[in-house]
Amino acid sequence: MTNTMTLQALAQDDRLDPAKAAVEITAVNKWYGEFHVLRDINLTVRRGERIVICGPSGSGKSTMIRCINRLEQHQSGTIVVDGIELSNDLKKIDDVRREVGMVFQHFNLFPHLTILQNCMLAPIWVRKMPESEAKELAMHFLEKVRIPDQAHKFPGQLSGGQQQRVAIARSLCMKPRLMLFDEPTSALDPEMIKEVLDTMIELAEEGMTMLCVTHEMGFAQAVADRVIFMDQGQIIEQNEPKAFFSAPQSERTRTFLGQILGH
Ligand SMILES: Nc1ncnc2c1ncn2[C@@H]1O[C@H](COP(=O)(O)OP(=O)(O)OP(=O)(O)O)[C@@H](O)[C@H]1O
Ligand SMILES: [Mg+2]
Repeated sequence: MTNTMTLQALAQDDRLDPAKAAVEITAVNKWYGEFHVLRDINLTVRRGERIVICGPSGSGKSTMIRCINRLEQHQSGTIVVDGIELSNDLKKIDDVRREVGMVFQHFNLFPHLTILQNCMLAPIWVRKMPESEAKELAMHFLEKVRIPDQAHKFPGQLSGGQQQRVAIARSLCMKPRLMLFDEPTSALDPEMIKEVLDTMIELAEEGMTMLCVTHEMGFAQAVADRVIFMDQGQIIEQNEPKAFFSAPQSERTRTFLGQILGH
């Protein structure tokens, strides 16, 4: 392929267009039985955008981000991820999940597999990558999260912070276009929080599109383009971090920030 052809192909691939949305959530509602957990959610995430979501326990933060890779199903409205609308079409769900990495509060590593095997699993089984290539890729990302020396250990032999960095490396091995984080540091001892946040900051600096549920407000101030506050299933308020923290508009946001920032 000539250079011109490559450029043409790139220009035609609208998935590389930064003006296009990474995620478009429109008028989404969700119920758990009678309980209305998401109420008329509208949210557009631009490519490369870094969003922090905060709000009280039970406000629907996890539910909202889990809807983006269909770990939860919404009942009305539309969710479009990288141009693919989520519906009951299993092929489309697979396509979306291939592009979306998720890191949970609990690391969810396979305890009977080594760190390296944990990272190689999805590239081999989902991307059909040859084993040698998957291994090279896994080592690349383990180096990136600064634990290549742990590759042959089992998850139980690592600290919480190290396990969470493995979980991030494992996600990155799938070369996701979007990363979802659900309170990735809240199960960690304080001394391990920083090493995980540092890994996430590096990822943000490289331009990864990120939606991150966290109450680490220092992280939000350092890397978020936008902070979103949710309460009772609704997006109450959103703003760039400086304005969000210095001049919250809603009383509920002020009360919440007062509680978590301790003033
Ligand atoms: N599978 C479920 N079935 C029924 N109710 C659920 C289910 N999952 C969550 N809920 C309820 O939905 C509400 C929102 O839950 P969600 O986990 O999204 O909140 P959250 O904002 O992530 O809270 P936290 O900060 O505690 O993680 C809560 O009241 C919760 O009890
Ligand atoms: Mg949650």
